[in-house]
Amino acid sequence: MVGFSHAEREAYRDLDQKVSMGLDSQAESKQGHNLFVSLEPCTHTGKTPPCRDLVIERSPSKVMLGWKDPNPLVLSGDWEAYQKQGIEIRLHPLIAQSSYPFLHGFFQRIKKNRPWVWVKSAITSDGFYATHELSNQPISSPESQFYLQMLRAKFDAIVVGPKTMQVDEPGLDFRLKEDDFLSKGEVSKIDFGNIAEFFSPGEQMLDSLFAESNTECYSEHVSNLNSYQPWRVFILKEGLEIAPSFMEKQKALNERYGKKLCLFYLLTAPQKNVNPDLTHFSELSTLSDFPILKITDMDSDLFFKDLSNHGVNTVILEAGSFLWNFVKENLDVNDCILTIQSEKEWKEGKAFLGLNQFEKQIQYQVGPDLWQIEMKS
Ligand SMILES: NC(=O)c1ccc[n+]([C@@H]2O[C@H](COP(=O)([O-])OP(=O)(O)OC[C@H]3O[C@@H](n4cnc5c(N)ncnc54)[C@H](OP(=O)(O)O)[C@@H]3O)[C@@H](O)[C@H]2O)c1
Repeated sequence: MVGFSHAEREAYRDLDQKVSMGLDSQAESKQGHNLFVSLEPCTHTGKTPPCRDLVIERSPSKVMLGWKDPNPLVLSGDWEAYQKQGIEIRLHPLIAQSSYPFLHGFFQRIKKNRPWVWVKSAITSDGFYATHELSNQPISSPESQFYLQMLRAKFDAIVVGPKTMQVDEPGLDFRLKEDDFLSKGEVSKIDFGNIAEFFSPGEQMLDSLFAESNTECYSEHVSNLNSYQPWRVFILKEGLEIAPSFMEKQKALNERYGKKLCLFYLLTAPQKNVNPDLTHFSELSTLSDFPILKITDMDSDLFFKDLSNHGVNTVILEAGSFLWNFVKENLDVNDCILTIQSEKEWKEGKAFLGLNQFEKQIQYQVGPDLWQIEMKS
């Protein structure tokens, strides 16, 4: 997680704690140990000193790595210091595979200055994401809603478009209640007989979501809600009415999680020299530590870059019509379109246009809903 201690430091802290409580007899008897990490230990001083120094100090027999670190701040591949201490260090393909879904966003941000993008929409069996009147009608089942919250916890930012912000006044926070676990339903993966790819981060992310959402994982999330809070991102358009109830809700969320996690973007006309009036939105500045950024509907690049500058590795776009049109030409390899198709049939409404865009598709039956991810390959 961005802003937290690196995994190596956490792992050794955890081990020391267990030893001091007499919970790890093997470590207590000072037998050698091996270290398995998804990403090469860092070599630079950030919030903490370099993890490489810590690892060398703790002197494991072997260090097995998933990936070299593409961060230019890290002296990647400079492993002499380990070897001098007699520590074997090497890459391991299975660690690379199992950690890939959780590092792909970080790799995207470091290499391309954009997050890993997921476009998500709940749709009816006949393909509609909203009614014509935009009434707030639930589509996905409680089973899906549980997993969608657990998925939200894995992402750094959640985005909605202008109308959705006005109609739904969504919280966009990660929230779980004590009894939400009860609505966790049966999940099965629909097998098309394809050979699974070794690296398919979208599919692996969902496989892990469904497999790992057990009691222990759920309890960990419930007791650490603060640690899993995403940025709550709103795209505004000129003249959009901001309801007092929206302000109150977002203010309360900032207070609850102890951090101003709102980001606002204002859609402006593409013509040059048009300076939109921000006074209408001045009240929003109390909800965010950052000024409202002006963008046009051609600026998805700028939008992703700005999110990336906020440290966003992974983003979910809760797509109505605006967000789909905004990003459809700017999706990258492994970006995902996630549709949650319910059994409900509306016969009319606003159609989600992001369906069946890419060939690579994986499906899961989640309670009564069909989850489908499509990926650009
Ligand atoms: N099923 C789901 O997963 C899901 C997800 C999100 C939202 N929703 C539902 O979708 C409904 C809202 O959907 P939506 O598609 O109408 O909302 P939206 O995507 O949030 O916003 C669409 C609005 O953005 C404005 N817009 C589009 N392009 C623009 C541009 N280039 N410049 C400025 N403004 C632009 C349009 O305003 P004008 O009309 O003024 O042009 C349009 O009304 C709500 O009922 C919400 O509950 C469902």
